[in-house]
Amino acid sequence: MRWHIDVSMIFLKTDEEIELLRESNRILGKTLAEVAKVIKPGVTTAYLDKIAEEFIRDNGAIPSCKGYEGYPATLCTSVNEQVVHGIPSEKVVLKEGDIVSVDTCVLKNGFHGDSAYTFPVGEVSEDIMKLLRRTKECLYLGIEQAVTGKRLGDISYAIQNHAETGGYQVVREFVGHGIGRQMHEEPELPNYGRRGNGIVLKSGMVVAIEPMVMSGRRNIIIENDGWTARSADRKPAAHYELSVAVQNGKADILSTFDFIKEVLQERFI
Ligand code: MF3
Ligand code: CO
Repeated sequence: MRWHIDVSMIFLKTDEEIELLRESNRILGKTLAEVAKVIKPGVTTAYLDKIAEEFIRDNGAIPSCKGYEGYPATLCTSVNEQVVHGIPSEKVVLKEGDIVSVDTCVLKNGFHGDSAYTFPVGEVSEDIMKLLRRTKECLYLGIEQAVTGKRLGDISYAIQNHAETGGYQVVREFVGHGIGRQMHEEPELPNYGRRGNGIVLKSGMVVAIEPMVMSGRRNIIIENDGWTARSADRKPAAHYELSVAVQNGKADILSTFDFIKEVLQERFI
């Protein structure tokens, strides 16, 4: 956690740059939908990764998680108690009742898109569905606060408050972030905080808002692969992420779940 941020390191985007970010995020939204098409019991997370990498490259874009600080894959595929940064593997076979959080970044025309979605595998329990719904609501409540003149803490608070009043906890070790020419730019955007705290939001700031919500305790453990973050108590966790541009009156959501919605249809929450 950094307590001081250098506001000169926050790059405000021009309208043209925002359109480039929208293009990267659109490809990403379609990529997640391609993944959604094949998620079912019996499929490995390595297969999801292959589908995603091919689709991104076929669209003239670069899967920018691959090679990022040595990360070995296109997707992060985090199953059940895994929170974020699960590494796709031939050994991880999805089964009925699982959830899988699929998170990835796409680079095109010099700008990164970043988005994540937690998918149910087949039928999941009602408790799990509640966790998924609540986490997605946290994301949209955070986005509602991403408007000119509000403060960063207003986004953080909205997310934390909705998670905790639902009986859940938010992760402290991983945060949302500014995004643009770099995947991770200033400012850091914790999923917990106080209203009225933090920097004032300006039009043209672009942030990836990404609540990571735990059904049990918030403590996490990093597995021996150096990446996979899972809940210490092995209770399931969910993660939804969209990149948004701060604007007057209403945030401009640059990523999209629309293509996922087309695939999931009545199963879309
Ligand atoms: N998409 C992730 C995020 O939300 C980044 C994944 S880390 C990587 O910030 F190493 F996998 F790229
Ligand atoms: Co992110």
